[in-house]
Amino acid sequence: MAGTKTLLRALTGETLDVPPIWMMRQAGRYLPEYRATRAKAGDFLSLCYNPELAAEVTLQPIRRYGFDAAILFADILLVPQALGADLWFVTGEGPRLSTITTPEDVTALKPLSDIHETLNPIYETVRILAQELPAETTLIGFAGAPWTVATYMIAGRGTPDQGPAHALMQADRVTFEALLHRITEATIDYLSCQIDAGAEVVKLFDSWAGSLKGEDFTKYALDPARQIIAALKAKHPGIPVIAFPREAGDHYIGFAKATGADCVALDNSVSADWAARNVQVDGCVQGNLAPGHMVTGGQALVDETKRIVAAFSKGPHIFNLGHGITPDADPDNVQRMIDAVRG
Ligand code: CP3
Repeated sequence: MAGTKTLLRALTGETLDVPPIWMMRQAGRYLPEYRATRAKAGDFLSLCYNPELAAEVTLQPIRRYGFDAAILFADILLVPQALGADLWFVTGEGPRLSTITTPEDVTALKPLSDIHETLNPIYETVRILAQELPAETTLIGFAGAPWTVATYMIAGRGTPDQGPAHALMQADRVTFEALLHRITEATIDYLSCQIDAGAEVVKLFDSWAGSLKGEDFTKYALDPARQIIAALKAKHPGIPVIAFPREAGDHYIGFAKATGADCVALDNSVSADWAARNVQVDGCVQGNLAPGHMVTGGQALVDETKRIVAAFSKGPHIFNLGHGITPDADPDNVQRMIDAVRG
């Protein structure tokens, strides 16, 4: 209920004395209990597709820290896999996928009705979490935004500059747009099923939005987000959506209004003061402590956390990092950050 859950209250535009707090990648390798459960599962993907263990790692940071929100444990690359791409993770390097670069590759993707065969275990994880989470904790579902997911599908891996995706966009816009369209439709269905299973908020991760400039940003980051949000809100009236067009810079301005998002998540390349003046004027924002503070700690962590809380204190705010916490972070620094926010 929005009445009791602080995260839902912030998402409806309420300014709270103490902002709700959670962390991107809060279930992750910096936690010894995560590493133990992952070892039990075997590998990362086996963990994602095991509802009991995925629910367990989702709950671990809630038990340890009492965050105001839990984010479903899964990955944005499960949607490409559900669409028929091969997916595996190389330890220490990251994801690998079979590549999609031709019209035939796009045509060969599975029809929408078939994606749930692969994704059903994820909905089961959501159902378990909806049962087991404390009453005050909000459950966040998520998916990758079409552009970011497409960058991995086209390149077959993570890339520093999303070069292969930009190259396909230039060389064969029809195929590129057909792929984006397929991902957009799959994302709507996937998130809709997460909501049916009990997700109370959904977040769209557009991690590589920052490499889209000008018109391309509008067409491939903003428009797909707007379509997904409109479709979800039509099916699930009132469902709150957090959009994360990472490193969007000036494109953060007006993004919530243009897409219908209830909250814009900010990376740490923008200053909190700037974002309070230019983005929070339209509603709730989330962010944006640099994840490096979770490694380095000290007084700088406390000072920077308090500065961000103060900068956003005049409007609705969800405290978070500007990107995911890294495996080398010190779990004690997470507690220091929480104490600085709630203190
Ligand atoms: O935030 C959470 O705690 C929920 C779970 C979650 C994961 N990935 C688990 C994960 C979420 C929300 C994601 C999103 C995700 N996945 C994004 C968007 C957010 C971002 O970070 O920009 C992206 C780009 C991916 C794709 C992905 N998954 C990459 C590039 C990698 C490898 C890099 C790395 O950190 O190892 C992953 C692996 C991954 N996803 C891990 C976790 C906990 C580490 C896997 C492990 O345990 O070895």
